[in-house]
Amino acid sequence: MDKILVHGGRRLRGSVKISGSKNSALPILAATLLTKEPCTISRVPDLSDIHYMLTILSELGCEVERASGTVQIRAEKILTHAPYDIVRKMRASVCILGPLLGREHEATVSLPGGCVIGDRPIDLHLRGFEALGAAVKVSGGNVKVLAPHLKGARISLRSNFGSTVLGTGNVMMAAVLAEGVTVIDGAAEEPEVVDLANFLIAMGAKIEGAGTRSITIEGVKELHGAEHEVIPDRIEAGTFLAAGAISGDEVTVSRVIPAHLESVTGLLSKAGFEILSNGSQVTIRPGSKRVALKIDAVPYPGFPTDMQAQMCALMATTEGISVVSDHVFPHRFMHVAEMKRMGADIELQGGTAVIKGVSQLGGAPVMASDLRASAALVLAGLQADGITEVNRVYHIDRGYESIDEKLNELGAEIERVKA
Ligand code: EPU
Repeated sequence: MDKILVHGGRRLRGSVKISGSKNSALPILAATLLTKEPCTISRVPDLSDIHYMLTILSELGCEVERASGTVQIRAEKILTHAPYDIVRKMRASVCILGPLLGREHEATVSLPGGCVIGDRPIDLHLRGFEALGAAVKVSGGNVKVLAPHLKGARISLRSNFGSTVLGTGNVMMAAVLAEGVTVIDGAAEEPEVVDLANFLIAMGAKIEGAGTRSITIEGVKELHGAEHEVIPDRIEAGTFLAAGAISGDEVTVSRVIPAHLESVTGLLSKAGFEILSNGSQVTIRPGSKRVALKIDAVPYPGFPTDMQAQMCALMATTEGISVVSDHVFPHRFMHVAEMKRMGADIELQGGTAVIKGVSQLGGAPVMASDLRASAALVLAGLQADGITEVNRVYHIDRGYESIDEKLNELGAEIERVKA
């Protein structure tokens, strides 16, 4: 298995181009199943999760062509059963359920298992499909949804942890071809939901309210092919801003939508950094003093759970006591034990990390447990004395396009050791 060696102590400076959003691209690619006509999706990041999704679409019968960030998909004749071997590799494969149900009135997908960031049920997705008239059957590790006739309904997707991002997308994708009007209450407000809605609208769907808590969908008979450019990845951008905060003189992320980054840039400026926003660029510069923070990861427009681990890395060397809670995935703290091996002073109390900033971390061999935890360990390595060896980097390749090369262009010294 490949590993990454981070030589700590280098200062970062310069500008980095942000890729298209993974979490937008995945459901958008799945949405191409809704039409027989060809669709063209651009700014698709080159990531292993995207590769899995394209493999699933090919296995379902789609013609898939990919050339430098642009993917053409034609789902003329499709199957409705996705094979376990591929589906099990990526939880997001669950978002093919909605479009298959919408177009073919049935779908069978392996149930996603738990993962290191928590239990991750799909009860809300299924509740939404049932409200649209589908029968849901779980057997032999598969979930089968069947609805000879999909009918619009009023559906609530609220849970104790907020709404569900992929669940909102899934129900929206089934409802666009249902008869009548569907209202999703307690919808996720994330920009990725808006991006999916915009693609569906380009395909001929009638959707209003995406980006708010209530989405209204008026079903149409069929959708047509469309072209769409995926929005910039706000989490990749946030990760590079956090890298700049940790060891930067001045780092700029370009090709971003600054409004999508507000909760992250807001916290970084509270933490003492200077933030400058200019068109589609955001720059971070050191301020006069770093400040420890109380951080709560919550649904959008609040501070994202997908940036929680990276902020723990920043707070690990910020003088004072920081308190970081994750209200979306309360168990998403696997990075804490690894950061402690690097000398961080962090105590876990349930879904909260209490971090006492130390003046410096030390390089150590560490194990990446999930995508964002691995990014956080690379960031911790940037500020550590000596070499940090991040193992199991396949996690990082699931969600960051060439993170090592992009950081090196900013002045980091990171080596990838091929297994
Ligand atoms: N939940 C339920 N029931 C459900 C669905 C979710 O209880 O049916 C709970 C979850 O257990 C969690 C909360 O609701 O506590 C939110 O989960 P959500 O469904 O919103 O997560 P998701 O849609 O599966 C997406 C991103 C995640 C990101 C979350 C939250 C994709 C492919 N994944 O997951 O991204 O953390 O939203 O913003 O879009 C990542 O990129 O590293 C990543 C994990």
